[in-house]
Amino acid sequence: MNIILLGPPGAGKGTQAKRLEQAFAIPQLSTGDMLRAAVKSGSDLGQQAKRVMDAGELMPDDLMVQMIEDRIQQPDCANGFILDGFPRTTEQARALDEMLARRGTKLDHVIELAVDEEALVERITGRYSCANCGAGYHDKYQTPKTEGVCDACGSTEFKRREDDNEDTVRARLKAYHDQTAPILPYYRDQGILQKVDGMADIDEVTRQIQAIVEGKR
Ligand code: AP5
Repeated sequence: MNIILLGPPGAGKGTQAKRLEQAFAIPQLSTGDMLRAAVKSGSDLGQQAKRVMDAGELMPDDLMVQMIEDRIQQPDCANGFILDGFPRTTEQARALDEMLARRGTKLDHVIELAVDEEALVERITGRYSCANCGAGYHDKYQTPKTEGVCDACGSTEFKRREDDNEDTVRARLKAYHDQTAPILPYYRDQGILQKVDGMADIDEVTRQIQAIVEGKR
């Protein structure tokens, strides 16, 4: 099962991808997470990614396509994957179709998380995650059961993303409109685009996505 979650920054792609990963036992492939790992490693790619991400812009298509092509060849993708943050341009979308066709497979679902953009700045600036295991939280919408303690691993260390400030979020939203939203008609024309209400609460969004993936909608 090959799934894409599409939507602007803060739409809930990462939150939902982690839940689908558990429910369907296929990995979340987050290009944002891959780039943040490169930044942490201090590699040349990481240094380039830091500049681009801090500016709220997009990395070059050829680098991102190669990154995903390498990743989907790993054994854990044998039964499929959930793409979170890729494709982000029409060129990436076309390259993905070609690489899947070469492997004798295709996309099963492209799911758009439709959101009210006014809510996104609050969602993103309130986001944080466990510094140990990466579990995601929000100051208001997704707090740990015990304040200051990660539900998943018990760590008391948390972190915030450097690009989660208001100025960068606005630049990321602009990049979404200019470069990513044009891929929606590309998938609509293929008949595989489905929309869920990304403004519903987190559990309800999960239910809507699962209904699509299980063929109940
Ligand atoms: P990336 O890491 O992909 O960031 P993004 O697309 O901006 O998406 P976010 O991670 O900010 O949002 P999300 O939709 O995952 O929301 P989340 O679930 O966390 O990319 C970062 C950068 O890397 C890009 O700007 C670009 O520079 C580069 N990059 C990455 N991929 C690239 C590519 N393919 N090509 C070129 N460049 C690339 O939710 C947000 C918050 O809201 C959380 O706190 C969550 O708890 C809360 N929340 C979620 N759902 C709900 C809900 N239903 N109700 C209330 N709160 C909710």
